[in-house]
Amino acid sequence: MKIGVPKEIMFAETRVALIPETVKQLTKSGLEVLVESGAGEGAFFMDSVYQDAGAKIVPDATALFAEADLVVKVQKPIFNEKLGKHEVELLHEGSYLVAFLQPMTNSDLVKRLLNQKVTSFSMDAVPRITRAQKLDALSSMSTVAGYKAVLLAANASPKFFPMLMTAAGTIAPARVFVIGAGVAGLQAIATARRLGAVVEAFDTRPVVKEQVESLGAKFVEVDMKVDKTQAEDKGGYAKELSEEFYKKEMEVLHKKASESDVIITTALIPGKPAPCLITEEMVKAMKPGSVIVDLASEMGGNCALTEPGKEVTKHGVTIFGFQNIPALVPFHASQMYSRNMYSFLTHLIRDQKIALDWSDEITAEMCITHAGEIKNKAVKKLVLGESVEAI
Ligand code: NAI
Repeated sequence: MKIGVPKEIMFAETRVALIPETVKQLTKSGLEVLVESGAGEGAFFMDSVYQDAGAKIVPDATALFAEADLVVKVQKPIFNEKLGKHEVELLHEGSYLVAFLQPMTNSDLVKRLLNQKVTSFSMDAVPRITRAQKLDALSSMSTVAGYKAVLLAANASPKFFPMLMTAAGTIAPARVFVIGAGVAGLQAIATARRLGAVVEAFDTRPVVKEQVESLGAKFVEVDMKVDKTQAEDKGGYAKELSEEFYKKEMEVLHKKASESDVIITTALIPGKPAPCLITEEMVKAMKPGSVIVDLASEMGGNCALTEPGKEVTKHGVTIFGFQNIPALVPFHASQMYSRNMYSFLTHLIRDQKIALDWSDEITAEMCITHAGEIKNKAVKKLVLGESVEAI
């Protein structure tokens, strides 16, 4: 069984799907690992270190895809300009693929995988159950993004984050406001606190109050009671609340915007466009030199003035809408992804062979296509709603 690790070709992608530490674990268990030359360079893992870990270095993508039984990637397959071919065409019939496929927004890709008869698994379809926590690559990447968002903000801010007592007098600490205290938000709070800022946070789920406070931040509340069952589903994800609640939330956010030096936004309800929580009026109310990092930019953004993928300055406020922040921390983002990938591979492979158990929730939900069939129910509903024709 040969596992292939190609070099990522998406623009500005620096991560790699497997790092040498994981390669060593896999080769020790009798699996063969092929790594495309230079695949780990963006994350500072050199070919020689992969070789020491037992990998075979393959010169190019064509050779790697042709030889591998299972290809592991970070980004979904895209058109390879250099080869003039889509990466899915490089996968041979009957082979396996694991990557962030984002199938719910890429039905063309799902159709390609179907036609190529590839068995594909999506790392963004890990079910939110205790048993699958070790595979949860989305949470890993949100952790990286929450951390880096604060560093981007600190770097762009004209102010210190910590309080300083100097001979030139006392410098007041920066005020950071975090909207959405999920995985990314909690990491942003922890990072801003470590840098010495005064941190406040808001979330529609009252259950996170304790977690926010345990990190040394203040939990901001809206003057309206919502209980746990109203605010979140069984998986712990946020649910939509009433118009009245959101009206009150916006009033609180307006006040907090005018008081904050930095706002980090991470608010999201799965399957919905990101809620617009910071209006142009609120941006205008912020002090000149303030910074907003909008982590929800890929889903439309939490700030009305966010430009996806860009850093812009509007009304004296710097607004970041970067979409692949984990690629700015490539070493540890790759390490975390690689460990999540290892957990998935050990779940999938038994006695050096892939064992597909459709009664298993992890396998059934993460599998997008298999033998010309769509396996994931939500993806099936989406794609079969369209016509499944050959491309
Ligand atoms: P999560 O689901 O753990 O957290 C989202 C939080 O937002 C939840 O706690 C939820 O209760 C809260 N929320 C929902 N509606 C809200 C509202 N109206 N007001 C306040 N809070 C509200 O998600 P996670 O993993 O923390 O990701 C957060 C965002 O960061 C997502 O949009 C994700 O796509 C994005 N992200 C962006 C990256 C980038 O490079 N730009 C990288 C990784 C994640």
